[in-house]
Amino acid sequence: MQILLRFARQWVAGVGSEEAIGRSVEANSRGIGAIINYLGEHHTRREDVEISAGEYASLLERIADQNMDSCISVKLSQLGLTISEDYCREVIGELLDRCRRVGVFLWLDMEDARYTNATLDVYRDCLAKYPETGVALQANLKRTERDLRSLISTGGIIRLCKGAYREDGSISYRRKRDVDESYRRLMRILFGDGNRFALATHDEGLIREGLSLQERYERKLEFQMLLGVRDPLKEELRSMNRRVLEYIPYGPSWLPYFSRRLRERPRNVVTMLRSLLGQ
Ligand code: FDA
Repeated sequence: MQILLRFARQWVAGVGSEEAIGRSVEANSRGIGAIINYLGEHHTRREDVEISAGEYASLLERIADQNMDSCISVKLSQLGLTISEDYCREVIGELLDRCRRVGVFLWLDMEDARYTNATLDVYRDCLAKYPETGVALQANLKRTERDLRSLISTGGIIRLCKGAYREDGSISYRRKRDVDESYRRLMRILFGDGNRFALATHDEGLIREGLSLQERYERKLEFQMLLGVRDPLKEELRSMNRRVLEYIPYGPSWLPYFSRRLRERPRNVVTMLRSLLGQ
């Protein structure tokens, strides 16, 4: 596991919050904002939910104390959604109060399609209580255009990503070119009708299209990318005075996140095997 973790550190800050804070401070020193995520999902025991909520509470204190350019991003299934929606609302409600007190933005990650309805319902409540909250929407889901239009009309703040989960073909686009086309279409809707949103992708073609749309539409836009991916592109966007944020995950449950990153790019598996075999 230690050897795997060494390789995973390209995408994961480490196991403890100190490492996440360190990577965030380092990103800030390059003019890049941080989005910190404590890894974990599908918690079925309240003890685990409380550990995650406690971890975020102490992160918020650190972000405020150190005056960092950082927000947090949470998964609702790590904050009680797998146990019950009511319990999750309680937990996220307390976290929102803390965010409001210290003035830190809160993002809700979007998980697999079993959680989409509940995540959007909880998000709408969060937004009503604290406007500095946003939610991720996934371009690979066929329903997303409807969700996006509905959220835009109620002032939702959207992070548009392609979608990290393989879903059934009846509800999702599965071919890369269909997902890319969907992303492009949704991005245009965001520029046309949205006000404040984030493009979360490393796809250079889509990013360049976003840049040119930004020339036409003045929108509050940020570019979000993952830790360890496409650093030169982040730098280039920074040098063009664009707002760039880096998603910085950490925590003992780093394995599922790491596997998703490997699945997205099989070439990384080869690199990993080579490095494990010492070649
Ligand atoms: P795509 O996979 O087509 O990659 C485009 C290019 O980027 C590749 O050609 C490659 O060069 C580079 N690249 C991509 N992944 C790489 C990797 N792992 N290693 C090295 N290079 C890589 N998903 C989700 O379902 N819910 C969520 O809440 C979020 N949240 C989120 C936040 C942020 C800030 C980001 C950037 C992404 C997410 N995602 C997500 C993940 C997202 O849905 C998607 O799975 C990945 O970003 C990969 O898709 P791309 O848009 O980068 O395109």
